[in-house]
Amino acid sequence: MGSVSARDIVIEAAEGGYAVGAFNITDVVQMQAVVEAAVEKRAPVIIQTSVKPSKFLRPDVLVAVYRTLAETAPVPVCLHLDHCTDLDHCKKCADAGYTNIMIDASRHSYEENIRQTKAIVDYCHALGDITVEGELGTVGGVEDQIKVAEDEAALADPVQAIEFVERTGIDIFAPAIGTAHGVYKTKNPKIDFDRFAQIQQLVNGGGMLAPLIVHGGTGLKPEVVQRLVALGGAKFNVSTDLKHASIDATYDYISSHRTEYNPGKIDMAAKQAVIARVNYWIDLLGCAGKASCTGDHRS
Ligand code: 13P
Repeated sequence: MGSVSARDIVIEAAEGGYAVGAFNITDVVQMQAVVEAAVEKRAPVIIQTSVKPSKFLRPDVLVAVYRTLAETAPVPVCLHLDHCTDLDHCKKCADAGYTNIMIDASRHSYEENIRQTKAIVDYCHALGDITVEGELGTVGGVEDQIKVAEDEAALADPVQAIEFVERTGIDIFAPAIGTAHGVYKTKNPKIDFDRFAQIQQLVNGGGMLAPLIVHGGTGLKPEVVQRLVALGGAKFNVSTDLKHASIDATYDYISSHRTEYNPGKIDMAAKQAVIARVNYWIDLLGCAGKASCTGDHRS
């Protein structure tokens, strides 16, 4: 099954009433863990890299490893660049072979967001089957190089949302609805379910234009995740949770094996911890056993 663009698997999820997990990784061990968990669960999956890891590890290296893993995996696997504010880097990753690019121009004015997002859509679609995610409004918290105070995050305007999707031509759409990256500062984050439902109705009610994405998976309670999936959330981003799992497992292993000096065993401990978290998310999102989705929705 192997390498796919995000749009295909996310549309199938939206139509099937489940969501695809999109997992941020920062190294090759985590990338393998995500794919192995997806294979174990027979689930479609999206591997994501933030901008800093993609620059540090290099897009061409990441794509080579991704393709090797995807080609041999009996499940659809996508490689997504997450929250990129730099148009040149978006293009570099598309050129290298990422299958989905997120241009995040959400902190600019509405018109500038449209201009930059459309430029990346035009570039990626001209290259081939590379799909694009755009964001409207801002997600609170810290994601790689982007910091937004939770109380400064601006929610997406539903009327602008449909116009944004139509004018940019994006394939998948992340409207800000009150979720935040990382561990929430507030105990009970205020998620605007009504706004999300309204946006879903306006954007996808008359036919699937751009399936909706939910950012900030880590701090959300399971019942909140399931409610957002039921309302049409078809791609869920999870980053901090995997980082905590990987770092805690590494710390625990080293702490209890102070004289061992065997990096392979440390990697194995971190990998198993990440696999366990990805398995949890795949079950919660309802995408276990959905790996048969292969449909091409681009005409
Ligand atoms: P979390 O770090 O809260 O899981 O958010 C991930 C995310 O939305 C990446 O785009």
